[in-house]
Amino acid sequence: MLLSSLTFLLLAPISALAQITYDQAHNATPIVGTWTSGSRHVLTGPGFVNPLNLTFVYPQTTGVSYSFTETGFYEVARYRMYGNGSSPNCITGVMNWAHGTYTHNSNGSMTLHPFGDGFQQIQGACFANSDFIEIYNDTELYQSWQIFMDATDGPKLHMFQFDGSPVTPMFHYSQTPLMLPTQQLRNVSSPTKVAKRAITNGTPPIRHVAGIAAVGGLLGSVLLVLA
Ligand SMILES: *[C@@H]1O[C@H](CO)[C@@H](O)[C@H](O)[C@H]1NC(C)=O
Ligand SMILES: *[C@@H]1O[C@H](CO)[C@@H](O)[C@H](O)[C@H]1NC(C)=O
Ligand SMILES: *[C@@H]1O[C@H](CO)[C@@H](O)[C@H](O)[C@H]1NC(C)=O
Ligand SMILES: *[C@@H]1O[C@H](CO)[C@@H](O)[C@H](O)[C@H]1NC(C)=O
Repeated sequence: MLLSSLTFLLLAPISALAQITYDQAHNATPIVGTWTSGSRHVLTGPGFVNPLNLTFVYPQTTGVSYSFTETGFYEVARYRMYGNGSSPNCITGVMNWAHGTYTHNSNGSMTLHPFGDGFQQIQGACFANSDFIEIYNDTELYQSWQIFMDATDGPKLHMFQFDGSPVTPMFHYSQTPLMLPTQQLRNVSSPTKVAKRAITNGTPPIRHVAGIAAVGGLLGSVLLVLA
């Protein structure tokens, strides 16, 4: 362990944007490209999301996808379902998208820094007004990550979240990352209060949620269109 950490440190690039390659502790291959879980239906890029009008294209099945460029940009697309132990029929679906820059940290962890234009749609099966879109701007820390060479599936990326819990292992979908333009794609301003409007049928209430990023005029008019 000590030796591999040392190796990692020695091989770690000076520039946080540079790509780490072929370090035994981490990589069978570089992390650059697009990675996708299980069914391979969830992929980053324009097939998943339209950031301008805050809409998603729902994939056939749930899954996650991450893309990384050689120059330090990332994009993540996630479609997840959460069950409810006390009410088994109350499933919540979450579509989540963000992009930004990533840094490899000297302790082997990786940090994803979002541009601020990420968002997610949350749909609950059982609760009133439980279909809504909100800004998603979380900085994500991954404690560690590794790429194994699978005999049948090729390179597989394993990432471990800030609390050590694993992300579903992902296959290497393409070496060229499938991504939207690596810049902020919608006007967003600094965090303050924003009206979060439910998009369920009927006349939904407007809820004011603190801590969610305020959004510019563009998003404001989009929310109006969605209402
Ligand atoms: C959002 O934008 C996409 C891509 O331009 C378009 O195909 C889709 O119909 C739009 N959806 C809405 C609800 O405006
Ligand atoms: C699970 O369902 C109960 C109602 O049966 C609800 O009170 C609770 O908030 C739900 N939990 C989640 C995480 O959705
Ligand atoms: C590893 O480095 C990151 C970034 O500096 C830091 O946030 C994280 O807490 C560190 N993890 C451990 C286990 O020290
Ligand atoms: C997104 O989060 C970053 C880091 O916490 C923050 O600096 C930035 O202002 C946030 N952007 C928006 C639009 O909320």
